[in-house]
Amino acid sequence: MMIRLVISALLMMLAGNVFAASGGDENLDSVHVNLRDTESLQKGAATFTNYCLSCHGIKYMRYNRMADDLGINEEVLRSNFLQPSQKPGDQMTVNMSEDDAKRWFGVVPPDLSLIARARSPDWIYTFLRSFRVEEKSVTGWNNDLYPDVGMPHVLYSIQQDTTREEYDKTVRDLTNFLVYVAEPAKLVRYNIGIWVLIFMGIFIICAYFLKKEYWKDVH
Ligand code: HEC
Repeated sequence: MMIRLVISALLMMLAGNVFAASGGDENLDSVHVNLRDTESLQKGAATFTNYCLSCHGIKYMRYNRMADDLGINEEVLRSNFLQPSQKPGDQMTVNMSEDDAKRWFGVVPPDLSLIARARSPDWIYTFLRSFRVEEKSVTGWNNDLYPDVGMPHVLYSIQQDTTREEYDKTVRDLTNFLVYVAEPAKLVRYNIGIWVLIFMGIFIICAYFLKKEYWKDVH
């Protein structure tokens, strides 16, 4: 009975990972995201802050929550993530006004808090690897997955300066981060999950010896 519970708990945790990793659309490249890879999440957070946050907010996230969840200490948070005027408790929003955004891009860049759920991890991963030069478009770019997108290829400098594998890894880390942002509680659940399993393991051992002790004189 106990063993079965432990096995089904393990399966549930594994299933969580598999679902997070697959989007299911055949035209998309699949990305393996892993919310337990803290280093990947930290790198994704840095890329997002440096390359995306100027246009896209993730308003349901606060800097200090992100720092706590991803093991970023306050010094690094202040020097690498916050502008001098910002506080750790601030929401991660954009400074640009909506009017300016409309004037510059024709559309307001959407908030990306829930994008990993609205699209899918595979979609984001494929999108950020599908930009190509198109001189006659407004931004100078087009995107094979999202034709006539109003967004320029903001990661161009990274793509140009790194190998294909390195660029894919950068985009994967960024996607991983957006999956975390879309459901921060998942990280907490993973952490609780581990303790539940450890507790159950210890419990089974105790139960086993207790049973032995009780039945000792019966046989
Ligand atoms: C210069 C401003 C700008 C920057 C920087 C920028 N974007 Fe965008 N992005 C836009 C605009 C504008 C749109 C809306 C395009 C449209 O609807 O045609 C958009 C759309 C998107 C979409 C599609 C949303 C949807 O489902 O409709 C995603 C995903 C996205 N951006 C991700 C990113 C990521 C990740 C980064 C950082 C690597 C980033 N963007 C950086 C301007 C920007």
